[in-house]
Amino acid sequence: MLRRIASYLKGYGGYAVGSPLLVIVETVCQLIIPLLMARIINQGIYGNSMTVVWQSGALMVAVALVAIFTGAMSAKCAANAAQGLGANLRQAEFRKISGFSFADIDRFSSSSLITRMTNDVTNIQNTAMICLRIFIRALTMLVASVVLTLTISPQLALVVLVILPIMAVALLALMKICFPLFEKMQRALDHLNETVQENLIAVRVVKSYVRENREREKFIDANDGFTAAGLRAVMRMVAMQPVMMICMAAATVLVLYFGGNMVLGLELDVGYLQTVLDYIMQILMSIMMVGMAILQYTRAQASMHRVFEVLDAQSAIVDGGGTDLPAPRGRVEFRDVSFRYQTEGAGEDVLRGISLDIQPGEFVAIVGGTGTGKSSLVNLIPRFYDVHRGKVLVDGMDVRDYPLDGLRGRIGMVLQNNVLFSGTIRENLLWGNENATEEELIQAAKDAQAYDFIMSFPDGFDTSLDQGGVNVSGGQKQRLCIARAMVRKPAVLILDDSTSAVDSATEGRIRESFRENLKGTTVIIIAQRISSVQYADKIVVLDEGTVAGVGTHGELMETNKIYREIYDSQQEGGDGNGGT
Ligand SMILES: Nc1ncnc2c1ncn2[C@@H]1O[C@H](COP(=O)(O)OP(=O)(O)O)[C@@H](O)[C@H]1O
Ligand SMILES: [Mg+2]
Repeated sequence: MLRRIASYLKGYGGYAVGSPLLVIVETVCQLIIPLLMARIINQGIYGNSMTVVWQSGALMVAVALVAIFTGAMSAKCAANAAQGLGANLRQAEFRKISGFSFADIDRFSSSSLITRMTNDVTNIQNTAMICLRIFIRALTMLVASVVLTLTISPQLALVVLVILPIMAVALLALMKICFPLFEKMQRALDHLNETVQENLIAVRVVKSYVRENREREKFIDANDGFTAAGLRAVMRMVAMQPVMMICMAAATVLVLYFGGNMVLGLELDVGYLQTVLDYIMQILMSIMMVGMAILQYTRAQASMHRVFEVLDAQSAIVDGGGTDLPAPRGRVEFRDVSFRYQTEGAGEDVLRGISLDIQPGEFVAIVGGTGTGKSSLVNLIPRFYDVHRGKVLVDGMDVRDYPLDGLRGRIGMVLQNNVLFSGTIRENLLWGNENATEEELIQAAKDAQAYDFIMSFPDGFDTSLDQGGVNVSGGQKQRLCIARAMVRKPAVLILDDSTSAVDSATEGRIRESFRENLKGTTVIIIAQRISSVQYADKIVVLDEGTVAGVGTHGELMETNKIYREIYDSQQEGGDGNGGT
């Protein structure tokens, strides 16, 4: 896993190598200072030599300056390397996610993908910084201090041997206790993010149902959960502090006791006593630091795992890459198609044994109750999902053999929950086809019955839309989405319940303009209102994932019980609305 992370340091390798090297120089400088101090005490003060004091003092200043400089430089390198690593990881994830199919996004859920791109990467980034600097520094300090203590006084080094195992055991225990707590903390954070995200995305709904208080409570719950999880972990770490302090105090007492005796027995110069004391403190501190770094690393491991899960995801939909494409005419065939969603285990088939043949230029309507698989059916045509069995053909070629852009380029799709993007109306319409001329935009807007209301805005086509198109009405938004799909001049136009917010008269005009202006285009419409589809060339009745009937309005009224039931229920309702 480490080597893999290292490969994302590309472009920042120099910083990643430079930082530890500089840290080592910095640490060595800091270790030389106590040695110089010993020299001042032993040879300068006790040896009564002012020159030694001056020389060693000047040297100390020089060494300290080098330490400061290399310290600052290494911090800079570590920051650069860590930021670079974060940037590379985010970019890799974003590239991967943009290639995800609907099924892949379903599998991860978009809120989890956002957390994996932000929070988890930040975790890795912070850990990289800590490992490049604090960990290397502590390790160098530890090794060098042990070696130096041993050379000055092997007897006093024994004190380290006594204290070390105690600290090591205490640290190991702490890690064992804290790992699961940190994991819980991360999950609590996930939950918190989810709550916030859901609320902000649906803020209008929350307000319209006056659910602010309830939602506030939900947030407080999630926030308290996170705080409690964090506190539990941190409290365990704080409890360690006294243990560490006792170890340090014990070490000091032991060194002073044995060292003092050695000085009195003239086995040790008094200056070295202070030096050894310094080194032993460094050793103990270093052990704590190494422990902390390891703790942080294990925390980041969970994040790395989550990030690599995204990077390793095998996209369910692979570009077919075919080159010899048929001319776009608009024929769509389903041959014995079965389909199921892959989320959480093997679900049941949502569509079963569907066979349909839609001719170029046909106007086809799909009706059926909610949840019978209408959206799922049309989503198979532009290959948002792949069939489970059977095949879908567009213009006689299996959709899995098309290059994705070649396939989707000939299909205009207005999704059930469609969105517009921040930008002007013109920019949004140009999504359909970047090279569309002004006349084509106007024609598409007219066909979708959007032209009049667009021109009623002071800025016309240059009116800017806020994110998701929140500043236009539901019906206007739907018409803009239809216009956007029409700018593409597709061979197949699919409208998934796209006129539900448009009044019946306007809907009738849209249908008329389709008839007149889209003669060669195959139109597939999903609608709730029978009144809006009864003029279709062909109506497909779906029932629980199977085709319950195909025919014209007249034929189906005669022969199809389900169709008649839907029709009757809408007559009784009087408002012409089916159960949505
Ligand atoms: N992304 C999805 N993941 C899992 N199940 C889904 C998904 N979308 C729809 N379903 C399920 O598939 C069935 C058909 O849904 P859908 O095609 O949207 O029906 P319709 O458009 O006719 O209302 C429903 O039972 C629904 O719960
Ligand atoms: Mg639907």
